[in-house]
Amino acid sequence: MSGRIDALVIGGGMITADLILPSLYQLQRTGPVGDVSVCTSRSSTLRELSANANIAAAFPGKSFASWPDLSKPDIGAQPLLYRTACAGMKPRQLVAVAVPDHLHHEVVMSALQSDQHVLCVKPLALKHSEAAGIAETAKARGLFVGVEYHKRFDRRSLVARAGYRAGRFGRFVMGEARLVEPYRYRRSSFQRWFTTENTDPFCYIGCHYVDLVSFITGLQPVEVSVRGVRGRFPNGNEGFLWSHGRVLWENGAILSVTNGLGYPDEAAGSNDQGLTLYCEGDHGAGMIRHDDHYRGVSYTYTEPSPDSRFFQYVSPDFFQYVPWGGEGLRPVGYGFDSIEAIVRTVAEIEDATRNLPSLLALEERRRRCALVDTEGLIATPSNTESIDLVIEAGRRSIAADGSVVRIVRGSEPKVVPVSAGS
Ligand SMILES: NC(=O)c1ccc[n+]([C@@H]2O[C@H](COP(=O)([O-])OP(=O)(O)OC[C@H]3O[C@@H](n4cnc5c(N)ncnc54)[C@H](O)[C@@H]3O)[C@@H](O)[C@H]2O)c1
Repeated sequence: MSGRIDALVIGGGMITADLILPSLYQLQRTGPVGDVSVCTSRSSTLRELSANANIAAAFPGKSFASWPDLSKPDIGAQPLLYRTACAGMKPRQLVAVAVPDHLHHEVVMSALQSDQHVLCVKPLALKHSEAAGIAETAKARGLFVGVEYHKRFDRRSLVARAGYRAGRFGRFVMGEARLVEPYRYRRSSFQRWFTTENTDPFCYIGCHYVDLVSFITGLQPVEVSVRGVRGRFPNGNEGFLWSHGRVLWENGAILSVTNGLGYPDEAAGSNDQGLTLYCEGDHGAGMIRHDDHYRGVSYTYTEPSPDSRFFQYVSPDFFQYVPWGGEGLRPVGYGFDSIEAIVRTVAEIEDATRNLPSLLALEERRRRCALVDTEGLIATPSNTESIDLVIEAGRRSIAADGSVVRIVRGSEPKVVPVSAGS
């Protein structure tokens, strides 16, 4: 690999601090990433990010270029600054989109219109038409869009996918998934944007497991209903704080999906999560069961950890900083693997096409993007189309108190409400 790709992260909140920025720094150390910059609407967020103690310990001396410029006086919120930041980049670098769910579409489109490849946190968009617009624009310009559904890179997901597709479990018939984030999220910046009109737990985190069931089984979802429990954040905003979704699949299988912002802050582990899929073969039953909550490691400390815990479940699988041969620490886990896969894909596309005449380069970029779509390991707008439909159907359903919404495929896929909620 020869060239390096500059990376601009838009959004400087939790997912940027806990996953995206450290992963980009590590990839800067090891090769494919060049300059790293971060853009947020408020400079206070950037100041907090640049003072992050975990990142500083892992990456001594590393820093990012800031939008807004932290050396200049604070002029208040600049919600459109990301457009200037994108437009200022060399063509076909990487923009990582890590803003709240309802802003993904406009920020991704702005990056594409500035001729940038994109990494977007899930969910790509809240409406299928928006995701389709992203796919179309990316294809027209020969740009890669990777959707950061990192659970696909958890080794247990890859093992299950290989086993299911080899016919070792039989046919998926009935399943349940849960992902409940900590109660303390209600006191975080979530209270500003996690409101009923913008998102809900099914859309925010249920999408991970719906995607995973499709990733493992290859089945397409056909019908969705989601019931929510409304509540108030400390600032008085109303949000869906819990949700229960039911997803029907093309073979008649049913998946129950429980989500919320309510895992006790005092309980072990950073959240509660897991997946069980019951299956049937010709002569008996099969089963896939992933305990994604307790991953077999529990620690008791003699002094409280930075989050005031003496006892904790620790996941070595998603994201940890570990000692390595270089200075500081290195990030490991499927979170890092997922970011790395997207970054390396972009870098390889650019390496392979940098010296080609522009029309040939465009064709070759499109060909390589299509190969990733078909391979189906990295999530892309094309291979997550059915999940975007589920999200749109889920949003429609939860707003109508659990009405059943059908997914209709064809030349113009759409979602159609088929029953009133109760
Ligand atoms: N497991 C996962 O895959 C995972 C986990 C957490 C979050 N996420 C996704 O990441 C996104 C962000 O979540 P978070 O937890 O970091 O939220 P957060 O509230 O901690 O951070 C959001 C950030 O977006 C920034 N922002 C908002 N509007 C902006 C604008 N107009 N321009 C620039 N920056 C802007 C805010 O300043 C803040 O830094 C959400 O879409 C969420 O669904 C994914």
